[in-house]
Amino acid sequence: MSFDVLWISRDEIESLNITMPRIMQAVEQGFMALGTNEVEMPAKIGIHPRENCFIHAMPCHVAGAVDHCGIKCVSGYPPNTPKGLPYISGIMLLSEPETGLPRAVMDAGWITAWRTGAASGVYASHFGRRDTQSVAIVGAGVQGKVNLIAMREVFPKLRQVNVYDVSDTQTDNFLSEMRPELPAAEFKAYQDISTTVADADVIITCTPIVESPKRFITKDMIKPEALCISVDYCSAFSEEIMQEATFICDNRNQYIWTQKQGAYFQNGYPRADSIYADMGEVCAGMKPGVREGLRGGVLMGIASHDVMTASLVYGMAADKGLGTKVKL
Ligand SMILES: NC(=O)c1ccc[n+]([C@@H]2O[C@H](COP(=O)([O-])OP(=O)(O)OC[C@H]3O[C@@H](n4cnc5c(N)ncnc54)[C@H](O)[C@@H]3O)[C@@H](O)[C@H]2O)c1
Repeated sequence: MSFDVLWISRDEIESLNITMPRIMQAVEQGFMALGTNEVEMPAKIGIHPRENCFIHAMPCHVAGAVDHCGIKCVSGYPPNTPKGLPYISGIMLLSEPETGLPRAVMDAGWITAWRTGAASGVYASHFGRRDTQSVAIVGAGVQGKVNLIAMREVFPKLRQVNVYDVSDTQTDNFLSEMRPELPAAEFKAYQDISTTVADADVIITCTPIVESPKRFITKDMIKPEALCISVDYCSAFSEEIMQEATFICDNRNQYIWTQKQGAYFQNGYPRADSIYADMGEVCAGMKPGVREGLRGGVLMGIASHDVMTASLVYGMAADKGLGTKVKL
């Protein structure tokens, strides 16, 4: 017996103009469900067909009143960037929880980009200082941009954006795309990392995740009360920063599981007993946010973000009659 699946392309997703606050709301709802134990979400597993490259499988069921489930297959290939190909690409499948039948298949590149920025936004909304004025973006690609958009939503007083990238082309693209998004902010591009991060209230690192990280941002470079957001696992911030910070991860289970695999977070990143809380616990109200002192978050990206964001896309696309029905 054959049945219909809705195929939703990236162009169609973009045409929905879904705003960052709506995605942050969906991501936060997923975090809350995690905190109240209503989510089945094994840690993401992966294969590594080339050096520093991954293809991950990320299944999740957000149960309870939400009741959405799906699985994302996502690749991260750093060598793609200079080839003009996306670093992150993939497919998101949403399934019907009652029958298990596939309901929709959509581009996972957009979903990954926006839900990741949204997760940083949710973290910053609980741990950022309300008077935050300056942000440093390290790695000015897709994540650098979308994370800045999330910071704009969380910090209305944002007036200074420092940016650092090893590629001048990427920096130039960032500046031309982001200046119109934050017309009141002054943008400064730097050639060295120390100046980029020195006066920043918030530092967000979005560089490639690599097997042997250089961790080039050290504690002496940053403000003692900085908010440090790592989108790139343990690639950029030194272990000393994360050890001395009030340390958060997005999900304890995934963080500890990944650490046990031995591939990442070795050599000094906080172990299980040094985690202040995970974002599920914070969003569910079990642990308060902390807005003082050095604060550090490793947001690895979790499957609940994908299922929540994809469900938002699917609902809006179905309402507007967007997408192509494909027979399976
Ligand atoms: N945590 C999550 O949920 C999540 C989700 C998506 C992507 N990511 C990660 O975010 C990172 C960025 O992804 P993206 O899609 O923005 O990639 P991208 O290729 O669009 O951007 C990466 C940027 O980093 C720059 N870069 C490389 N080495 C650098 C260095 N040493 N210092 C400064 N800049 C450097 C590149 O020139 C490029 O502009 C990757 O590590 C990716 O795996 C994490």
